[in-house]
Amino acid sequence: MKQSEFKKRRQALMKQIGQGNIAIVASADALIRNRDVHYRFRQDSDFFYLTGFNEADALAVFIPGRKQGEYVLFCREFDPTKAIWEGAHAGLEGAIRDFAADDAFPIDDLDEILPGMLENKGKVFYPMGKNSDLDHKLLDWINHIRKQSRSGVTAPGELVSLEHIVHEMRLFKSAEEIKLMRRAADISAQAHMRAMQFCQPGVYEYQVEAELLQVMMQQGLREVAYPSIVAAGKNACVLHYTENNDKLRKGDLLLIDAGAECECYAADITRTFPVSGKFSEPQRLLYQLVLDAQQAALAEIAPGVPWNKAHEASVVVLTKGLVELGLLKGRVNKLIKDEKYKQFYMHRIGHWLGMDVHDVGDYKIKDEWRLLEPGMVLTVEPGLYVAADCETVDKQWRGIGIRIEDDVLVTADGHEILTAAVPKTVDAIEALMRRT
Ligand code: GLY
Ligand code: MN
Ligand code: MN
Repeated sequence: MKQSEFKKRRQALMKQIGQGNIAIVASADALIRNRDVHYRFRQDSDFFYLTGFNEADALAVFIPGRKQGEYVLFCREFDPTKAIWEGAHAGLEGAIRDFAADDAFPIDDLDEILPGMLENKGKVFYPMGKNSDLDHKLLDWINHIRKQSRSGVTAPGELVSLEHIVHEMRLFKSAEEIKLMRRAADISAQAHMRAMQFCQPGVYEYQVEAELLQVMMQQGLREVAYPSIVAAGKNACVLHYTENNDKLRKGDLLLIDAGAECECYAADITRTFPVSGKFSEPQRLLYQLVLDAQQAALAEIAPGVPWNKAHEASVVVLTKGLVELGLLKGRVNKLIKDEKYKQFYMHRIGHWLGMDVHDVGDYKIKDEWRLLEPGMVLTVEPGLYVAADCETVDKQWRGIGIRIEDDVLVTADGHEILTAAVPKTVDAIEALMRRT
């Protein structure tokens, strides 16, 4: 991502903060995995969105109209020994030279410098409740300024949620962002196709996971956007199954929910296909029903359509189909009203997608479902999950879990499916699996 993109975002933020106010955003912490080993670092999405700065121990301050510079970055000072052991880090000079900060200070001096920046400001835009250490510090700094009121300084009078502004910005993807999301989607699509071709009875779920990662990593995407779900047979009925240690059996379906991350932008794809390469009759019937529900939901993705329409469309198709196949009994309208379908379809149709897999942005505005607008990206992912011990349905349906998930960009005249490359009709899946 170009620096100019981050700059544009900061300028847009600055405008919304307004002169006389201040905003503060902290980086993610480096997290310990065990003893002296860290997890691979993943920057806080809001912080990265505004700075492009990929280090821990950093804090960005935005002060519209500040004469010495509006964008201040606190970060670690350059340490040559650290550079030898751990590699590059920007330091104060790098923060200014490479990340376009107007001013940079050592993070160790935060306590001395930041309180002065808060003096005589009206509002502090800040993500309260995300980092309790910083929450306490901020309140201490503000209280400290209050005590100095007799010397003429005033303390900020209002703490305002910064997330509300930043998350609304993040909901609408720019051309640059869509480029990265396309790359995440394309490579994840290739990974899913590879998994379909690799899959056969007797291999283990983790071996399929390894194939997915191999395709992603070979192309430079080292991070998955969330832990991959590779769930054979009844494991697919556990919505967030990540053990991935079971053997694939001949008559089972395999559900894979996996997506790569590209420069902090996620893909999120699910496909479900037969381990042996051919759907059994009950599997095919339920699969086709989920696919029909997905098509009905996708038909509702266009500008001006309320967010919930796609979900409602999927509920109607699934409930009707479940009645036709005999898994539910009763009148469709009543079953929908009583939410009886939730026994088999217990999640919603999807979510916003972006830097976080379950991305930020409000789904409702003033209690009304929000209308879709161009530039939004969301998932469309209906599913059916019949528990292995579900005694209310015929045995042939039990232990089948199916989800079909695509990533969809809302465009000016409808939508574009970013993950359309992965086959999803029964015929196309069976054809791809024959070509191994
Ligand atoms: N992979 C998480 C989800 O589909 O929501
Ligand atoms: Mn999803
Ligand atoms: Mn998913």
